[in-house]
Amino acid sequence: MNRYQEVQSNLKNNSKKWLITGCAGFIGSNLLETLLLLNQEVVGLDNFATGHQKNLDEVQSQVSAEQWAKFTFIEGDIRNVDDCHKAVTGVNYILHQAALGSVPRSIADPIMTNSANVTGFLNMLVAAKEAKVETFVYAASSSTYGDHPALPKVEENIGKPLSPYAVTKYVNELYADVFFKTYGLNTIGLRYFNVFGKRQDPEGAYAAVIPKWTSSMFNNEDVFINGDGETSRDFCFIENAVQANILAATSNDEAKNNVYNVAVGDRTTLNILFDSLKSALGTNDIAYDKSPVYREFRAGDVRHSQADIGKAKSLLGYDPEFRIQSGIEKAMSWYVSNL
Ligand SMILES: NC(=O)c1ccc[n+]([C@@H]2O[C@H](COP(=O)([O-])OP(=O)(O)OC[C@H]3O[C@@H](n4cnc5c(N)ncnc54)[C@H](O)[C@@H]3O)[C@@H](O)[C@H]2O)c1
Repeated sequence: MNRYQEVQSNLKNNSKKWLITGCAGFIGSNLLETLLLLNQEVVGLDNFATGHQKNLDEVQSQVSAEQWAKFTFIEGDIRNVDDCHKAVTGVNYILHQAALGSVPRSIADPIMTNSANVTGFLNMLVAAKEAKVETFVYAASSSTYGDHPALPKVEENIGKPLSPYAVTKYVNELYADVFFKTYGLNTIGLRYFNVFGKRQDPEGAYAAVIPKWTSSMFNNEDVFINGDGETSRDFCFIENAVQANILAATSNDEAKNNVYNVAVGDRTTLNILFDSLKSALGTNDIAYDKSPVYREFRAGDVRHSQADIGKAKSLLGYDPEFRIQSGIEKAMSWYVSNL
């Protein structure tokens, strides 16, 4: 039995109370589904800025009525201190996912991104400290590596941020560290690397690459590659990210007050990703014959990204079950039935 299996079996026999902020979003709704299936009590906070009621409805359809009854939803905003205080009452663990994602969105409107990602984050830290939660786990980001050229990325070596979004995610890490040092609040930052899977939104100008391209291929539209297609990423299937959150929340003191890479340790170029998505759709009987359309590199993007996941493996017992190909197969069957 690996640590994740042990933790899951302990939780089933000993229900805890969790708060998921951003629970109507992609990662938040997947966390919600897993925790309810483990018979946990869950409070969710979301203002539907980028999340959807349909994500919550889908989770409801995946769990029993008894499990769903253990979920309390608060429609509220992390920029509002009172909403944060209300949400943390009696909570053991917080999985803080609420934020405005996307590098281009932050370049278009840095003030809005800052208000959710920095002010909202600070509000949540204060509420967590006052409620004396056991562990505050938060969504950090691989964008914090910025212009540091080394590969693979090791937690201790970061460069300068390349976008307002990256600044906000780095500020989260600084605040979390200071809240441990000054107030003793236990925090863990999970630097996600391009997470993908079911319920990731394909719509809108700021959609992530996998759902966006899948949707374009599905609708027989052009797929645009920013740059020469040799930009690379360590794509991380959602179930690996869910595992990392649950392991982080329940980790021992040695593991706490740290940041961890959450990825697989692989590196896939956009050109290879294009072919993989095309062939995964092909196995679902959807043919796509167009070639990709190359256009300018996008401002603020890191050129290459690949994680060293050794620290999460050794301190959290993280053991990612899915590499990119198996993740794409699972994600694709969901998109085919839901697009
Ligand atoms: N998806 C990735 O690859 C990735 C990579 C690195 C970091 N992250 C981080 O992970 C977290 C979750 O990302 P996601 O991909 O699920 O995005 P998402 O947009 O699907 O989910 C974010 C959720 O937060 C909610 N939200 C936003 N602002 C809020 C506010 N002010 N008050 C309350 N709720 C608010 C949104 O409505 C949404 O439901 C974010 O913090 C994001 O920055 C994601």
